[in-house]
Amino acid sequence: MKRRLLVIGIGAGDPDHLTVQAIKAMNRAQVFFIPEKGAEKDGLARIRREICEQFIENDTYRLVPFAMPVRRAAGDSYGAAVDDWHAAMAGIYGRLLAHELDEDRVGAFLVWGDPMLYDSTLRILDRLKSQGGLDLAVEVVPGITAIQALVARHGIPLNAIGEPVLVTTGRQLRDGFPRDADSAVVMLDNGETLRAVAEDCDIWWGANLGLPEEMLVSGRLRDVVDRIEANRKETREKQGWVMDTYLLRRRK
Ligand SMILES: C[S@@+](CC[C@H](N)C(=O)[O-])C[C@H]1O[C@@H](n2cnc3c(N)ncnc32)[C@H](O)[C@@H]1O
Repeated sequence: MKRRLLVIGIGAGDPDHLTVQAIKAMNRAQVFFIPEKGAEKDGLARIRREICEQFIENDTYRLVPFAMPVRRAAGDSYGAAVDDWHAAMAGIYGRLLAHELDEDRVGAFLVWGDPMLYDSTLRILDRLKSQGGLDLAVEVVPGITAIQALVARHGIPLNAIGEPVLVTTGRQLRDGFPRDADSAVVMLDNGETLRAVAEDCDIWWGANLGLPEEMLVSGRLRDVVDRIEANRKETREKQGWVMDTYLLRRRK
């Protein structure tokens, strides 16, 4: 018999981001796998627990916390470091599902934002399925991404009229603003990128969007970079973790 797994996007932090589809899916699951360990993971685990309490209408569900292994430093090969980490995670998921989810039960991962964007859950489950052993039926429920939360809070459209938008990471942007892009959304930044951007850009920045400590800054990058760095530092100090997303657009 198959084990059924729901991979549910829960939005970027505000419980009101949950869609009706996500709430219905949560009410079909009996076991929720909750990643923990590390200030950020623990903060997000607390929010996942609160979301369960708020939206699940039965008291028969079970939370199964698990520790995420730390990804080793990329060194020469980012790809190899990620591959090793996925292999370790597939092992953890395999053990969790085999021991904590009976074959006739429905399990769920509550994925931050949307599972399609900078999230490994679907790739790790694919890896696990390709290893054989566990018969898994995976269903994905979309969620509101940090990108949507960012542009909504700033009240702006994502793209300039008829233009493309690049979605990238702080790590990629540190190699330079892509020459063929005018607009870039940047995620997974460690706070060391913005000062290195040489282009004259406008920025719309948001940290811990949808959460009580949310911070928003917008303006010409060179005029607001100090304020953004100070806000980022303050959020990290107060909360123990910070996640930020920003849209950069070259000034014409
Ligand atoms: C591992 S990725 C997950 C992205 C997520 N799947 C999504 O759809 O938004 C984590 C990154 O998402 C962004 N992010 C997630 N939640 C955020 C929030 N509440 N405020 C600002 N950025 C957020 C940050 O760039 C963070 O480094």
